[in-house]
Amino acid sequence: MTKSILITGGAGFIGSHIVRYFVEKYPDAHIINLDKLTYAGNLENLRDVENCPNYTFIKNDIVEEQTMFRIFEQYQFDYVIHLAAESHVDRSISNPNSFVITNIVGTINLLNAARNIWKDNMEEKRFYHVSTDEVYGSLGTTGYFTEETKYDPRSPYSASKAGSDHLVKAYFHTFNMPVVLSNCSNNYGSYQFPEKLIPLFINNIRQNKPLPVYGKGENIRDWLWVGDHARAIETILLHGKVGETYNIGGNNEWKNIDLIRLLCKIMDKKLHRPDGESEKLITFVKDRAGHDLRYAIDSSKLQNELRWKPSLQFEEGLEKTVDWYLHNQEWLDRIVSGDYLKYYEEQYKNR
Ligand code: NAD
Ligand code: TYD
Repeated sequence: MTKSILITGGAGFIGSHIVRYFVEKYPDAHIINLDKLTYAGNLENLRDVENCPNYTFIKNDIVEEQTMFRIFEQYQFDYVIHLAAESHVDRSISNPNSFVITNIVGTINLLNAARNIWKDNMEEKRFYHVSTDEVYGSLGTTGYFTEETKYDPRSPYSASKAGSDHLVKAYFHTFNMPVVLSNCSNNYGSYQFPEKLIPLFINNIRQNKPLPVYGKGENIRDWLWVGDHARAIETILLHGKVGETYNIGGNNEWKNIDLIRLLCKIMDKKLHRPDGESEKLITFVKDRAGHDLRYAIDSSKLQNELRWKPSLQFEEGLEKTVDWYLHNQEWLDRIVSGDYLKYYEEQYKNR
């Protein structure tokens, strides 16, 4: 493949896995990672590919319309894989506006910039919008989200992602933009910022800090290993039907408290602590406002039409994930202390 591929948000958790996957698998493609480097973006996540000849990093904010237009004109991207976003539900409760600005305004800027360079020559192009299952709202104890489930976002985060999904679909219907979308369940794995449940709790357990479980811990999420998400994105980009949405999920539902107990057990083993030691850190705290009860994805469309399926069993994936964070405690320390910003400036000031 010899395409020029823009990946936005490539210094974040999922984006860094996508960038690495494409840089390594497609040496003849040019992979351009564009990222603002917010608190969640970290170029250390891409150390292993930063010197590859087919990789370029651009520090930019997708909200800056004029610069985005110039960058699209300069690089003439064939494909856009758009992941850049404000992504944490709790932050969207305390600061909703930044979610509207990046997730909605940023997305329409990219759509406009792509339309400007692709004009009437859209045949071989793709605009891939990476989204979340949270746009569908909250399930009760039964049922699954399908691609036909009505949108019912309930947090400022999911509402902003729903808004961006609608814009992407509107550009398909109105301007024939060659879009594909996917809505994925909760991801886990290496390089996830330790504000999300799994890396936050791994970090707290290693530091003997309380584990703040929201409400009674009865909320349910469907967890997918980030490497399986990367493969799904590749499959949909290359083989998905233009204008279509594909749900991606792990078929792997866990009640928060059960997942946390499993994580505690794994951590006890890895840290050579007596059984039950880490569980003592569990602390039930006030519930998240508007906390969605259950997410569960039906990914049969992707599995049947495009032959994708998840590869990693959760217990194995979680253990691998714990191993990664424990082997990369300096990464974790730098991020938790905020020192990674200073570190980044020192490492990258001459670039
Ligand atoms: P993340 O917060 O780890 O990374 C987001 C990246 O976007 C960061 O590198 C950040 O610097 C960059 N960014 C933020 N604002 C920007 C801006 N204005 N301009 C340019 N770059 C900007 O997020 P993530 O968990 O990797 O999620 C990536 C995408 O996948 C998001 O669109 C999210 O909605 C979606 N998603 C995430 C999950 C999940 O479980 N994490 C599940 C489904 C979908
Ligand atoms: P999170 O990782 O923030 O993902 P999302 O809210 O997008 O699903 O949270 C996963 C689940 O864990 C969610 O039900 C909220 C819960 N949670 C806690 O109980 N305590 C915490 O400290 C965090 C961050 C999350």
